[in-house]
Amino acid sequence: MRIALTVNGERRVADLWGGESLLTMLRDTLELPGSKNACEQGECGSCSVLLDGELVCSCLVLAAQADGHEVVTVEGLAANGDLHPVQRAFVDAGAVQCGFCTPGLVVAVADLLERSPGPSDDEIREALSGNVCRCTGYAKIFDAVRLAAERP
Ligand code: FES
Ligand code: FES
Repeated sequence: MRIALTVNGERRVADLWGGESLLTMLRDTLELPGSKNACEQGECGSCSVLLDGELVCSCLVLAAQADGHEVVTVEGLAANGDLHPVQRAFVDAGAVQCGFCTPGLVVAVADLLERSPGPSDDEIREALSGNVCRCTGYAKIFDAVRLAAERP
């Protein structure tokens, strides 16, 4: 089947089989490898993207469900080659180790700060509860969220 959707502001068309996940289509067909495939079971959040402004695990969404809709991936957050403020905060706070969780976290944090510009620790915890990081112990990630929230 063929679908047409908007990805990071661009109209894209993709040929796929009906059971293909949005994550597979983004990575393999549209050549956007920023969203990571760690568990493919909705457990880790490394594949997080925005679908019509809603944070979703792209491994759990059929690509066909995105037909006619709008997707924003981590590649779509940086404007004109400048890092998104959340990306910059992750770098500045030293919140990246192996980096496998980072794209999903960046998308989830950008979504959180869009909804709640000055989140409490509980809000941060709740918002990131679907994103697993095996390296950092989360302290630096919290620092990055606070840093991004503080900056103008
Ligand atoms: S790869 Fe989608 S939640 Fe882990
Ligand atoms: S930095 Fe390695 S999983 Fe988070």
